[in-house]
Amino acid sequence: MSLKKTKSELAKIKKASIIVAKTLKLLKAKIRPGITTKELDTEAEKFIRKSGAVPAFKGYRGYPASICASINEEVVHGIPGGRILRGGDIISVDIGVELDGFFGDAAITYPVGRISKQAEKLIDVTREALYKAINMAKKGNYLSDVSHAVQSHAEKAGFSVVRDFVGHGIGTSLHEEPQIPNFGEPGQGLKLEAGMVLAIEPMVNAGTSKVVVLDDGWTTITRDKKLSAHFEHTVCVTNEQAEIFTRVK
Ligand code: MF3
Ligand code: CO
Repeated sequence: MSLKKTKSELAKIKKASIIVAKTLKLLKAKIRPGITTKELDTEAEKFIRKSGAVPAFKGYRGYPASICASINEEVVHGIPGGRILRGGDIISVDIGVELDGFFGDAAITYPVGRISKQAEKLIDVTREALYKAINMAKKGNYLSDVSHAVQSHAEKAGFSVVRDFVGHGIGTSLHEEPQIPNFGEPGQGLKLEAGMVLAIEPMVNAGTSKVVVLDDGWTTITRDKKLSAHFEHTVCVTNEQAEIFTRVK
């Protein structure tokens, strides 16, 4: 669909996004040592369907679950299963929802119990990188200003950004143009306009930026097995500060 959405299209993307945010909030309350990622997936799917929506990831290119649950060195696209969360783990929960033909998409990395200082810093820096990027997502700025904000914040902290996966436009499909890399020089590419909806999703690694996809075809881990964090919001570019459609209240 067009990069610039109409008011009624924006309202529908926002509705889907609010269900994503509510599902993330629900799962936050359930994440603790002893729970499996499959249980989180089941709870998420139940809540999304009860809300009248559909889990957008399920069946997407054959993806087998409703959420992505990526633990520790897993970067993105971890498939929920019998793995039990342990204190000290970090887990990225990524959720997409389709409602009335429109999509919302967001991710948060949560600590499980008490975590190391290094893990805490990685989570904080990745979240900050997302919010710095969102601050750049305004009318008149360039798309690469958003990308650059992620890269510069992550690298200043001594971390690296993943280059093999990108953020994306979103609307009547989960993934639309433009692609939004988490690195790049400022002032390049698309000029942002009010009404564009972007899913900005920094993936930040403690060590190397290199990643490997496992044999299941989905689970992506860091090549050096060091920690990775991931945050994502669906945001709408306006004349002023971008509106975060997936804001968790
Ligand atoms: N937020 C991720 C993305 O935009 C999740 C996709 S998982 C998939 O790529 F299963 F849908 F592929
Ligand atoms: Co996404």
